[in-house]
Amino acid sequence: AVGNGNNIFWHNCPVGKPEREKLLDQKGCVVWITGLSGSGKSTVACSLSKELHARGKISYVLDGDNLRHGLNKDLSFSAEDRVENIRRVGEVARLFADAGLICIASLISPYRRDRDFCRELLPEANFIEVFMNMPLELCEARDAKGLYKLAREGKIKGFTGIDDLYEPPLNCEIELRQNDGVCPTPCAMAKQIVAYLEEKGFLE
Ligand code: PPS
Repeated sequence: AVGNGNNIFWHNCPVGKPEREKLLDQKGCVVWITGLSGSGKSTVACSLSKELHARGKISYVLDGDNLRHGLNKDLSFSAEDRVENIRRVGEVARLFADAGLICIASLISPYRRDRDFCRELLPEANFIEVFMNMPLELCEARDAKGLYKLAREGKIKGFTGIDDLYEPPLNCEIELRQNDGVCPTPCAMAKQIVAYLEEKGFLE
């Protein structure tokens, strides 16, 4: 056991990530989907999980909205709490990847620094950042939850894209966007991610 100088020690287990991956016939990693509210993150995350399941690969979706019902229910949307939200989910995603699963995290994760923090938690190449690059106008027009309307009316303060910051990725692995003003289907976008995972050897 190795101490950290704080009377806390790290214990190694003889069954590790490689052993679990061998059983599962896949490589653990984190697919981190970032983008504005209403950009389609959750839909693509679920579509991806479905595609992987159909191929016999085990994934797990960590959805920002859902996690705020439990693990993160004590957190608001202040800048400070969003940082803590992303830090926690990054750590949980790291554990899922270490378990050998393809962990699909789908959160607005508006700040670049926090996404980079999550990236640093994992061995290189095991963090795949996916940017849902949908225009604000499209997300706002969809407004499935009616939150943009409330934000425009000033009834929600600090709404991402309206009166709170969203920092687009500078070096993401995958960018999903409209082609000639047409949005690809969630299934097509999920397949694009699957193709990437396949090419990088995560599905063998
Ligand atoms: S964050 O920024 O990453 O901490 O956000 P996240 O945990 O992904 O939660 C986003 C969902 O919370 C709802 N919501 C808000 N979003 C942005 N800003 C404010 N102020 C806000 N208040 C509530 C909204 O439904 C988000 O869901 P998605 O799935 O992104 O549309």
